[in-house]
Amino acid sequence: MKKNFYITTPIYYPSGRYHIGTAYTEILTDSLKRYHKMHGEDTFMLTGTDEHGQKIQDKAKEEGLSPKEYVDLQAQKAKELWKLMKIDYDKYIRTTDEYHEKTVQWIFERFLKQGDIYLGEYEGWYCKPCESYWTESQLVDGKCPDCNRAVKLMKEEAYFFNMKKYTDKLLDYYEKHPDFIKPDYRKTEMINNFIKPGLEDLCVTRTSFDWGIKVLSNPKHVVYVWLDALTNYITALGYGQEDTSLFEKYWPANIHIVGKDIARFHLIYWPIFLMALDLPLPEHIYVHNFIMMKDGKMSKSKGNTIYPEQLIERYGLDATKYYLLREMPNNQDEIFTPEDFVSRYNSDLCNDLGNLLNRTISMINKYFDGIIPNYKGIVNQVDKDLEESVKVSVSNNKEFIDKFEFSNAIQSIWNLVSRTNKYIDEVEPWVLSKDNKIEELSSAMNHLASSLKVIAILIRPFMLETSNKILKQLGLNNNVSFEDLNNIYSFDNNKVIEKGEPIFLRLDTETEIEYIKELMNNH
Ligand code: ME8
Ligand code: MG
Repeated sequence: MKKNFYITTPIYYPSGRYHIGTAYTEILTDSLKRYHKMHGEDTFMLTGTDEHGQKIQDKAKEEGLSPKEYVDLQAQKAKELWKLMKIDYDKYIRTTDEYHEKTVQWIFERFLKQGDIYLGEYEGWYCKPCESYWTESQLVDGKCPDCNRAVKLMKEEAYFFNMKKYTDKLLDYYEKHPDFIKPDYRKTEMINNFIKPGLEDLCVTRTSFDWGIKVLSNPKHVVYVWLDALTNYITALGYGQEDTSLFEKYWPANIHIVGKDIARFHLIYWPIFLMALDLPLPEHIYVHNFIMMKDGKMSKSKGNTIYPEQLIERYGLDATKYYLLREMPNNQDEIFTPEDFVSRYNSDLCNDLGNLLNRTISMINKYFDGIIPNYKGIVNQVDKDLEESVKVSVSNNKEFIDKFEFSNAIQSIWNLVSRTNKYIDEVEPWVLSKDNKIEELSSAMNHLASSLKVIAILIRPFMLETSNKILKQLGLNNNVSFEDLNNIYSFDNNKVIEKGEPIFLRLDTETEIEYIKELMNNH
């Protein structure tokens, strides 16, 4: 039987245009889904929009629309962007979908009945943009610790979720499941910053606005956006509804992908809600870092924002994805710079990968009329070294992905690209040809084509179009999977393309740096 793989993105607030940070989450999730699909797993990817709350209500008003009209429009735009980016999601959830709203109401009543939720009064410092209440001590210089904006003291009758009841259970779960939270340091942060100081009960309703899911038994309250939002991961699968087949098949999720700004909600509250529902917890929650600009967070007012479609339009989808995935480190934020973008493009994609393909295709044409020679076994030490490098890259790639170190995983592929370029310089095919060493020459061409085949397979989850181009130039079928890595040296008299077009055209560094800077300033 096929292994199931359920992966999710956060559901984004549809309150503005998505920049490359939001796109990063989506790209990472999509790539990981494709990776598992290529391993023959039965995959399911969920994405969507988080459409309730004060912020959305205010935005709609600004635009002169009803909240529903506004979110309809925004959800449509989001779907268009994911289409342009060829995101292979299986379901798009909107928290205004009726099935979701009904299930949230049902979950809320269940929590009430169980005594997990109780009615009380809330007073706190409220940050409207973040839709978060903070205690006095959590504020930083009297401002929101997340976004550094002004907060307001507010008081309202509200329902609370009894978090204290579950604190020990949660800590115990963390302890028994060392791979639950990735990277590890995020767990330490949760324990030290939030759990050890004592978890506050979480306020789960509001009366200050009405664009939300009404509490069935007390409809002047609407469910606070986080209880509404987090449950999307199960309502989307039919949990608590008539047809629960997807839920039975895919829950618990294999992995939730989230940005660091929402770590607290996913690593503390979400597991506790699941415990209260008596449901198993997701296998992993991966918390990624942020894409920043030299002058801090991307923001419209600073004029330092860059949007994915702008990069895609000029440099292509694969180059954009390559840059974002390759540059994001595991332990700190990435700083986007036009200089890095152009340099990655020219050196990694155009020079290293593009030239490797070009040189290989033209040599196979020149020396063997375009037919990839068959494997002759290891002919000399350089062949042996290259075969070893192929093995190492393939296994490193897998190991890094298993460890959730995505940038390193990509680097392991580019190690093979470099190693293979070096191989050409070492074997000097032009000398072999001059000396008429046909056996060595054909072995060299076989090894080059094999390396490129491996590279095309390894990059495929995140650079599909480039993978297809490489396979096509090599005269190979693009119906490949990771299983083909077990049989890389055999060819079927495949004929490479006669004249391969460059897969990445060299960029003029100065022009393009200027171009991207212009994009960043022009909003
Ligand atoms: O928080 N770099 O929605 P949201 C990298 N609706 N990733 C970034 C980023 C950046 N600069 N900026 C945003 C919400 N992100 C809630 C989520 S889930 C049940 C509810 C990504 O629209 C990152 O993944 O503010 C972050 O967690 C997400 O966008 C927040 O999206
Ligand atoms: Mg946010």
